[in-house]
Amino acid sequence: MTIRFDDKVAIVTGAGGGLGREYALALAKRGAKVVVNDLGGSRDGTGHSDAALKVVEEIKAAGGKAMSNGGSVTDYQQMVEMVAKAKETWGGVHILINNAGVLRDKSFAKMEPEDFKFVVDVHLNGSANCTKAVWELMREQAYGRILMTASSTGLFGNFGQANYGAAKLGLAGLTKTLYLEGAKYNIKVNTIAPTAGTRMTEDLFPEEAFKAFSPDKVAPAALYLVSEDAPSNAIVGAGAGVFQAAFVTLTAGKLLTGDELSPEGVAAHWAEITDRTGEIVPASGSEQSISIMKKLQGS
Ligand code: NAI
Repeated sequence: MTIRFDDKVAIVTGAGGGLGREYALALAKRGAKVVVNDLGGSRDGTGHSDAALKVVEEIKAAGGKAMSNGGSVTDYQQMVEMVAKAKETWGGVHILINNAGVLRDKSFAKMEPEDFKFVVDVHLNGSANCTKAVWELMREQAYGRILMTASSTGLFGNFGQANYGAAKLGLAGLTKTLYLEGAKYNIKVNTIAPTAGTRMTEDLFPEEAFKAFSPDKVAPAALYLVSEDAPSNAIVGAGAGVFQAAFVTLTAGKLLTGDELSPEGVAAHWAEITDRTGEIVPASGSEQSISIMKKLQGS
């Protein structure tokens, strides 16, 4: 079945270039009305430009519907106004892709607290701002699809990206609670961890790889994750046409009592504590407590 977005209104943040632009074009091509948000700054978040406007022109030239928004995701009030304008013009907001991002890479030893805060503010607080701005509307509509953008750095780490990695795993954490709170209102929340040749990665990829990892090879996952029949609480890796799923797992663990309930006991049983045989993927935090109770009851 063809996945379409007719009658759906989508907001894509940071859609003036790279992955966001690709998502916006692809959503519009499949019938969505798209708010193209972008501050239009440089890779480190300084400056402004009319990047969003250019993407809107591209969408319109291809026969689609779009409006631009030059607000910053770090400004909650601007995000509230963006949502209000979309609702006023098109009657609602059904899809939000939190994609805007910046980089200020440095080893942690050399990273200033200001650069840590700034990157967390754009990625994590910025996504929380946009999500909060659409949340009530999505609850009223009993329909919402939200995509957070994490990264392999957040999930697995990368030298020189402590600020970015902390923000990115935070976004997977945000997904995990919002999917629970949104379930009753048909709001589905997922996380994508893309790998793509964009200005964010242009100095990391050799030219050939840059082409192989073009953003259009990530967009199919993003579109599926905000579609009518999307799953919820998924963490999906996407790059160069390869799609993967990542999970936060919990091992069966080991109950320690008596003298063994000590740091030495933990050390002695480390291999059993970390043994992945029979590990689970809890669907909520309380499932960890339940697994502990079961262990105490000996089952
Ligand atoms: P990009 O630099 O082309 O896109 C990011 C966009 O966000 C830019 O157009 C920028 O102007 C915009 N932006 C920055 N601060 C903003 C703000 N305060 N308000 C509104 N817009 C703002 O880079 P790319 O690669 O397309 O990145 C998109 C997302 O994917 C980011 O969240 C990035 O961290 C993430 N990502 C990208 C990877 C890659 O391999 N390209 C890897 C993992 C994650």
